[in-house]
Amino acid sequence: MSGQSMGPSKLFIISIIIFIELLAPTLESKQETAINDTTMQNKYNSHATIDERDCIPISEEKGSSCHQVVLYQPVFPVLQQDERQFDIVGKKWIIRQQWDQIGLSAVIWEAAIALTEYLETQGPSLLTGRSVMELGAGTGLVGMVASSLGAQRVEITDKNIASARSNLKLNSENIQRNSVSVLELEWGVTDLCSFQAPYDVILAADVIYIEDTFPALLDTLWELSSNETLILLSCKRRYDRDDRFFELAEKTQQFKYEIIMRWTKSDNVTIYRLVKNFVDTK
Ligand SMILES: C[S@@+](CC[C@H](N)C(=O)[O-])C[C@H]1O[C@@H](n2cnc3c(N)ncnc32)[C@H](O)[C@@H]1O
Repeated sequence: MSGQSMGPSKLFIISIIIFIELLAPTLESKQETAINDTTMQNKYNSHATIDERDCIPISEEKGSSCHQVVLYQPVFPVLQQDERQFDIVGKKWIIRQQWDQIGLSAVIWEAAIALTEYLETQGPSLLTGRSVMELGAGTGLVGMVASSLGAQRVEITDKNIASARSNLKLNSENIQRNSVSVLELEWGVTDLCSFQAPYDVILAADVIYIEDTFPALLDTLWELSSNETLILLSCKRRYDRDDRFFELAEKTQQFKYEIIMRWTKSDNVTIYRLVKNFVDTK
C-alpha cells in the first residue's frame, strides 16, 4: 500500500483483510451460517445505524477449515474520521487519518493511545536522553510523543511510512527539532545494518495480529536490542492465537516478558514489557 489512491475493488479486498485480521476482535460469538460477500457489502455500505447489535458475519477460509467472525460497525466511524485530536503531555496532537486511501497504517489504533498514556504517566525519566525505535508505527504518534518526552533520537518505522511522514509534518512543533526520523522498515525484509542498534527503548503498538509475521517481528526485536533495551509492546488481543507471539518470544528468542499495564478504557488492551534474555556463552 502506498500513498497513491487505489481502485474500489482493491480497497474492498483490503477492507476484508483488515476486517478479518483487526476488527474481528470485538467478536463475542461465532455464527454457523455464512453469508455471501454481496450481503456483507450491502450491509457495510448501509452503515446508517451505529448499534452494538449491528454486526456483520463473514466467513474466513483458513486451509481446509472455514470459521466465522463477527464484526461490529461502531469501530469504523472512528477509523474513517479524517482527523483525530489528542491532548498528551500537555500538548495538542493532530493526527490525520487516511483509512480510505492508505488503510490500517494510516489510522490510530487503541493500543497506540494506551501506549502514549503509559508514557505520559511515566514522565520524562523513562525517555530523556534515550535512543528510541518505534516499530509498526502507523501514524507515528507514539514515537512523536516519545520525542516530546525527551528522547534524544527517535526512529519511527513501518513498512508503509506515508502516514507517519505526513503526521510528523503536522505535529513538528511538538517534537524536539531534528530528533525524529521516519524510516521504512519491514520485519524480515529490510536490512537492519543501517540502523544504529541497539536502542535504549523499542516501542510498538498493535503489531501482533498476523501470526505469519511473529518470527520476523521477534527477529527484528532481537537484532535491534541489547539485554538493556526496554521493549514496550502495547497489544490489542483479538484471538487466542495472539498468545503464540509470547510463547515464541520466550521459547525461540529468549525474551522474558511481563504485563505492566492493563488499559481500562477498552477491553483487551495490555502493555507488555519485554527484556532480551541473552546469555553470552563464549
Ligand atoms: C494495526 S496497525 C498499528 C499502527 C500503530 N502502531 C497504531 O497502533 O496506531 C499495524 C502496523 O504494523 C505495520 N506492519 C504490519 N506488518 C509489518 C511488517 N511486516 N513490517 C513492518 N510493519 C508492519 C502496518 O503497516 C501498520 O502500520
